[in-house]
Amino acid sequence: MESGPAASFSSVHAVSRASLADTIAFLKDVLVPTLAKGPLIRRRKVVGFAERENIDDKAVLRMQELRRKYGPGPLLLKIPFRAQAVLLSREDVTAVLERSPEPFKAASMEKVAALGHFEPFVVLASHGPARSIRRQLNEQTLETGCQMHSLAAHLSVVITEEMDAVANEATSKGTLDWDTFFIGWFRMVRRIVLGDAAREDAELTDMLQDLRYRGNYAFLRPKDRAKRKTVLKRLHGYVERAQPGSLAARMAAACANPEQKPHHQLPQYLFAFDPGAMASFRTLALLSAHPDAEAQVRQELVATKDESAPRLPLLKACYFEALRLWPTTPAILRETTQRVDWAEGHLDPATHVIIFAPFFHRDDEMLTDAHTFNPSLWADGISRPDLAFFPFSHGTVVCPAADFVPMVATLALRRLVTQMSLRFEQIDRLRPERLPGTLDNYTLSFSAAKGQSAP
Ligand code: HEM
Repeated sequence: MESGPAASFSSVHAVSRASLADTIAFLKDVLVPTLAKGPLIRRRKVVGFAERENIDDKAVLRMQELRRKYGPGPLLLKIPFRAQAVLLSREDVTAVLERSPEPFKAASMEKVAALGHFEPFVVLASHGPARSIRRQLNEQTLETGCQMHSLAAHLSVVITEEMDAVANEATSKGTLDWDTFFIGWFRMVRRIVLGDAAREDAELTDMLQDLRYRGNYAFLRPKDRAKRKTVLKRLHGYVERAQPGSLAARMAAACANPEQKPHHQLPQYLFAFDPGAMASFRTLALLSAHPDAEAQVRQELVATKDESAPRLPLLKACYFEALRLWPTTPAILRETTQRVDWAEGHLDPATHVIIFAPFFHRDDEMLTDAHTFNPSLWADGISRPDLAFFPFSHGTVVCPAADFVPMVATLALRRLVTQMSLRFEQIDRLRPERLPGTLDNYTLSFSAAKGQSAP
């Protein structure tokens, strides 16, 4: 397929074509396991299996082998009907993300199909002028680029109340497990996103969860249009009610054009706080497995104990490390809007471009200590373009909540670790000298007692 003008690209690399055998190896070791875990909502059993069988480690090894064989340029897979290229170099990843949405659009065919199950007009599935106005609405609501949201003091109260409820339940049982944490986390999320009246509206988030399971199959499953309508209608109601202090109220106030469709943006907010929870729970486990780091974090907490919403750079760096070690967005996807020329070779229009994050995050051929906990990697903030670490993506499609999520997560973690003494019970799952490629958050569990352990 060749149409329209070509976009040239500053990359010095050459485009290569994978053999059929290497394409099958990529599908088997990288793509199929990633899809099996669930792109929009994780399948718990598969995540557990992936940890036991070192599935993500095998995926990284496969990617390293492909790079050795074909060089660092984009690798075109031998797949009929849909041109697909996988990126193998840090420079190409950074350049592709910096050149989105043109000529690398975020709204790839697969993403549009998957997100269409519950949020067809979300910014991530939009392109052109619709993307611009919806992006603007999201940035205004989430105050993208500000480390501290102007609602931080109010949110800190909500976070404290909900995390105290989690701590009370955990200490009365003696255990903090995923379900206790997650149920409390989502009460907090509903209040933050939709307002206090949504605290008990688990029916809404459960319906959304069902639609996300459908979304995992993209175009392979029919849409449940009735349920989607119910979810979107209820979200529309929350936007209209605009409870003070909620993101829905912020969005209602910022909305300047009905085509911005606030109620289609909000499912993303609810859904994306799910990975926010996974990374938070894994951070607790990392701290337990690294007592020196935990002691330093506690010192940071003591030094800021009188502030309602402190910045907590060290705790934030630990959170980013959890996202580096176990990326919650394993693949960032793009689609070329026109032919794109590399130094040698090109990608045709409508080529699907795959950035497999665990490869860059755990690439021990390029990074010493790729498999150990190293918060100092994050001294300068939310991304490392030099290393292609982009847990929140990069460029103009960067997650608009890239500052908001770490703020909420660190305030929640602060409350949990100051209310409870937590001990990770399965310490053999986290050997500091070689952390596992997958960490199944659903089966993590901590012994929990009232009061905090000494720094
Ligand atoms: C740990 C939690 C989260 C992570 C790691 C994360 C990561 C990401 C990534 C990697 C993308 C970009 C995808 C791409 O480049 O194609 C993205 C997009 C987005 N995220 Fe997040 N996210 C998180 C939580 C959230 C939350 C809680 C919200 C809202 C409150 C949110 C709102 C969005 C939106 C609206 C987009 C689409 C941006 C666009 O298309 O311009 N994210 N996120």
